[in-house]
Amino acid sequence: MHIRPLEEADRLAAAAIRVRPDVAPYLGVSAQRRPETCLADLRKGHVLGAFRDGQMVAVAQLRPSSRMRMRHVASVDLYCGAEGIDEAEALAAHLVYICDHWLQLWKLELAADPEAPWLEAAHKAGFELEQTRRSRRWRAGESRDELLLGWVQSGLRIATPTSASPLPPRLPKRPITLRPAVPDDAERFATLHHEDSVLRGTLQTPLRNADTWRGMLGGDQTAASLVAEIDGRLVGSGALFAPGGPAHQTGVIGLSVETASQGCGAGTAIMRELIRIGRDDLGLRRIELEVDAENVGARGLYAKLGFVEEGLRRQGSWRIDGYASAISMAIVYRS
Ligand SMILES: CC(C)(COP(=O)(O)OP(=O)(O)OC[C@H]1O[C@@H](n2cnc3c(N)ncnc32)[C@H](O)[C@@H]1OP(=O)(O)O)[C@@H](O)C(=O)NCCC(=O)NCCS
Repeated sequence: MHIRPLEEADRLAAAAIRVRPDVAPYLGVSAQRRPETCLADLRKGHVLGAFRDGQMVAVAQLRPSSRMRMRHVASVDLYCGAEGIDEAEALAAHLVYICDHWLQLWKLELAADPEAPWLEAAHKAGFELEQTRRSRRWRAGESRDELLLGWVQSGLRIATPTSASPLPPRLPKRPITLRPAVPDDAERFATLHHEDSVLRGTLQTPLRNADTWRGMLGGDQTAASLVAEIDGRLVGSGALFAPGGPAHQTGVIGLSVETASQGCGAGTAIMRELIRIGRDDLGLRRIELEVDAENVGARGLYAKLGFVEEGLRRQGSWRIDGYASAISMAIVYRS
């Protein structure tokens, strides 16, 4: 067996494995797809192949995260046919070795179909089950669960519990008005999202300025972007992201409320409306979010609205003083 980074000339062979009828369904791609159409995907990140007798039999792709607070994490795609299971295990172990010795990466994450033939290979290389995300994949006309497996390097600096997000106070509820966010909200977004409690809770960094927000609020990245107002003042915001297509009938929600107005009902009002849009207007199968495991207030809010916890993503993001874990929560409307 031989493992090496793929050359440009190898990529078509890797794409051909990807669309094989015994492989494609577990990757959520169509086996009718021409290999050439997968080449753009295979140019992202770093791709390694495992060869037996000169033939490529397993592929692993490493994509370091571009999110500022997740720069220590890379996602891994691993796949092979039934004949390449041993090579897939060697590839997964090789990635772990590379991270351990050559890269400033502390964590590898692999999202997989629970019946993917290469799952056991990842387990043997040290990847552990972290989350079971219900109805997040699409295979053979049905939704399937998705497993998130993680490998975490030992010695990782863990965030201390003392930096946990404080609980929002239990304040009297106030009348909340909702409206769509507009580019003119950009200055207020920049201030609100730089507050300490919001930075801790949302995986943002204090680098996004009003111009960046203006561009985002004027763009079409979100399916819905709302603000909450109390007495005409913008106190919170929330957005629903929903990439289209049957394989992606999943929406993702992000939420922020200014520190001084937390506990007044703004978060609940924004969430209820985003959930309604996702469920009724967009017909989403699943709405999900990720929340810092120590953000007890936010977890309580989401549980109140029907979100169910699906497992712990270990040390997936940097939080001021160390790497913190997050919990995935989701509402599933139909499987
Ligand atoms: C999390 C956040 C969005 C909640 O918004 P909010 O406007 O403060 O929330 P609301 O006032 O609508 O509701 C508070 C809910 O939090 C939960 N909560 C508050 N204190 C709680 C506690 N001690 N234990 C359990 N749940 C608690 C409850 O569900 C409560 O609802 P209830 O008052 O009806 O019981 C807000 O605190 C915030 O922006 N925090 C900083 C950024 C952040 O963490 N974003 C979330 C990222 S996932």
